[in-house]
Amino acid sequence: MPIDFLGSVFLDGTDIPYWEQIKTYGPAVTLLAGIKWYMGGNNNIWDRDLHGKVYMVTGGTSGLGARTTFEMAQKGAQILMLVRSTEDQWLVDYIEDMREKTNNPLIYAEECDLASLHSVRLFATKWLDNSPPRRLDGVVCCAGELIPRGKPRQITIDGVERQIAINYLAHFHLLTLLAPSFKVQPADRDVRVVITTCSSQAMAQIDFKDLLWSERQYPKGNPLKVYGTSKLMLGLFAKSYQRQLNVYERKDKNPVNVKISIVNPGLMRTQSMRRFISMGSLLGLICYMILWPLWFIIFKSPFQGAQSVLFALYAPIFAKGDGGNLVQECRILKEGSRREYQSEEFQDELFTKTEQLITTLEKQLAIERKKQELKQNKDDKNKNNKKKTTESKEKHYINEKPKTVGELDSRINELRNLIGMGQQLSSKELPLFPDQTVDSIVGKASNPTKRKGKKV
Ligand SMILES: NC(=O)c1ccc[n+]([C@@H]2O[C@H](COP(=O)([O-])OP(=O)(O)OC[C@H]3O[C@@H](n4cnc5c(N)ncnc54)[C@H](OP(=O)(O)O)[C@@H]3O)[C@@H](O)[C@H]2O)c1
Repeated sequence: MPIDFLGSVFLDGTDIPYWEQIKTYGPAVTLLAGIKWYMGGNNNIWDRDLHGKVYMVTGGTSGLGARTTFEMAQKGAQILMLVRSTEDQWLVDYIEDMREKTNNPLIYAEECDLASLHSVRLFATKWLDNSPPRRLDGVVCCAGELIPRGKPRQITIDGVERQIAINYLAHFHLLTLLAPSFKVQPADRDVRVVITTCSSQAMAQIDFKDLLWSERQYPKGNPLKVYGTSKLMLGLFAKSYQRQLNVYERKDKNPVNVKISIVNPGLMRTQSMRRFISMGSLLGLICYMILWPLWFIIFKSPFQGAQSVLFALYAPIFAKGDGGNLVQECRILKEGSRREYQSEEFQDELFTKTEQLITTLEKQLAIERKKQELKQNKDDKNKNNKKKTTESKEKHYINEKPKTVGELDSRINELRNLIGMGQQLSSKELPLFPDQTVDSIVGKASNPTKRKGKKV
């Protein structure tokens, strides 16, 4: 009966206003809405009170990280954003704004430039230096670098390929340096680490001989290969690291309660995605903007992308088990898309090799820094010496006898300038040497015996 009714309404029409337009465009709009809804992915249904909990977030200033920070701050978490630099007025305003909107004053930023291993170490050392150890309930790793097609190879100040350095090496370094902090958290504290991965890891190519993509150029036809490799390596590191934490024996014999999740948020309309599609060019940006309705339909918003991250942070299931779960669309995947996820041996070898590479790099960089420091000190010393010589010359200058009339004139003018009298004698002004000409002064100054003999 309802089908008959709907059929006759659809075919014969009704009194509904704009029925003809609805009939023409309705199916297409419904289809697009359906695609948009489907592409939006699943929603996290779990909630957690984060008051009194402390989380570090990388990449909290944009896209997925910004949205995740916002959601966590709304739940009352204390957030420490790890940022490239804290000397940034924009960052100050951003944090103020977020504090206001979430009604949470406990949002802070610390410098930890992921493009520099030294900066990561400085931050971690500062964190570990606290006594008693600081509370840490989790680390959310959302920072990432994606270099668009056609861009030349980019390296960090450490000389490492940029995507590998920021997406993989820096997070590896940060999380392993934080190990002592993880290990001293009370055993009943539910500590969670979330790292973000991407479907592009399907294109990854890990080469143990060139782990940091130092020898190879960017593959021309496949701009996501290096990025995907960094993401796969990060996921495999998480697996190996989780096992190491699981077997660690604490003094109180309790297990280390840190659970790492490897989360794929899905494709989102974020800054890095925009830059990737527009290939970092103005023309590309214009095309991106023209095609925006398409991106609006097929890509998630950062809020939708954050759902799986929040699921990994809130759902009680993650507090149990061995950790190292792969998460996508608010579900735990049984196995990863790559066979490397099944090989513990491969993961452990990757861990060891990366650790060695970081040690070597840090040593080289420390030597380089020391050399620079010595050179700087030497330059500063030379500059200071030069300054001192000039200063002492200037000091003696006033006591020296002028050799010519011109010199005497110029010194008098200098003195007049110093005391603000100007260079020209005004008619009302008394001369400095009232009844003597400049010549006689020079003469007397250069012939003291003559002066002595003169009767006054
Ligand atoms: N977008 C997607 O479709 C997609 C898909 C799958 C996975 N993911 C992953 O999700 C995560 C977030 O992606 P997104 O698209 O939201 O990224 P995004 O909007 O481009 O933000 C990247 C963040 O990383 C930070 N960052 C970059 N270099 C840094 C450095 N040297 N030191 C400290 N912070 C640095 C940026 O800080 P500044 O604000 O200072 O630049 C920014 O906050 C990434 O790990 C990405 O790989 C994204």
